[in-house]
Amino acid sequence: MAGSDTTATAVQSTLLAIISNPPVYGKLWAEIDTAVAHSLVSLPIQNNEAARLRYLSACVLEGLRKHPPVAQLRERMAPPEGDYIHGFRIPGGTCIGFNTWGLQMNKIFGEDPAIFRPERWLIDDVECLSSMHRTLDLVFGHGSTRCLGTPIAMTELNKIIFEVCHHFVRPAIGRGWTDGEVALKALRHHDNRSTATPKEYLLRDLLPGRL
Ligand code: HEM
Repeated sequence: MAGSDTTATAVQSTLLAIISNPPVYGKLWAEIDTAVAHSLVSLPIQNNEAARLRYLSACVLEGLRKHPPVAQLRERMAPPEGDYIHGFRIPGGTCIGFNTWGLQMNKIFGEDPAIFRPERWLIDDVECLSSMHRTLDLVFGHGSTRCLGTPIAMTELNKIIFEVCHHFVRPAIGRGWTDGEVALKALRHHDNRSTATPKEYLLRDLLPGRL
């Protein structure tokens, strides 16, 4: 079914990036705490409320940028008469796709695109932000076959990351669990399952000795 594995992958990789980065989760917890303490959000949170939490939104964007869920080239075939891309002649029948992971390392994102750094989205340069958003948008494809579920995906991500962090991950880190333990339990919580999945075994490889 469209949008299930892609969204689940985005949730898992964004959550992992957040909880393995204390400076990031420190800021996110502070924002969540303030929003809850001042009743700025409903529980469960509404999408328009989540969109007003700037650091949460930056974490969601950065999670998608750093780990685009669809890594295929999504090739298209050039028409029989051929085509031109930025002045390059493309012969008819050539298959052309784009490398999403490579695109998200573009220098438009700054000097450190390999780092998960939500702060890059919290700048005032409107022109630069607009280029960043246009580039990030390509994780949903482009043209007539572009993802039809983008607004639903963004709503899900905003709400799930907030809810899982607020109700589960943050209290768990407060109880002194390691980030690896939290990651594993958070994934199980999100999936509502109690058995390990291949992704959890992969996580054990990513966090050796911590699970
Ligand atoms: C983070 C989450 C998601 C990502 C990264 C994503 C990404 C993509 C990509 C890359 C494509 C192919 C675009 C192309 O070939 O040009 C696609 C197609 C599609 N997506 Fe998503 N998607 C996500 C979530 C969703 C959700 C939640 C839904 C539905 C509720 C959905 C529905 C669809 C549909 C129906 C297509 C096929 C469009 C077509 O061929 O006309 N997607 N998605």
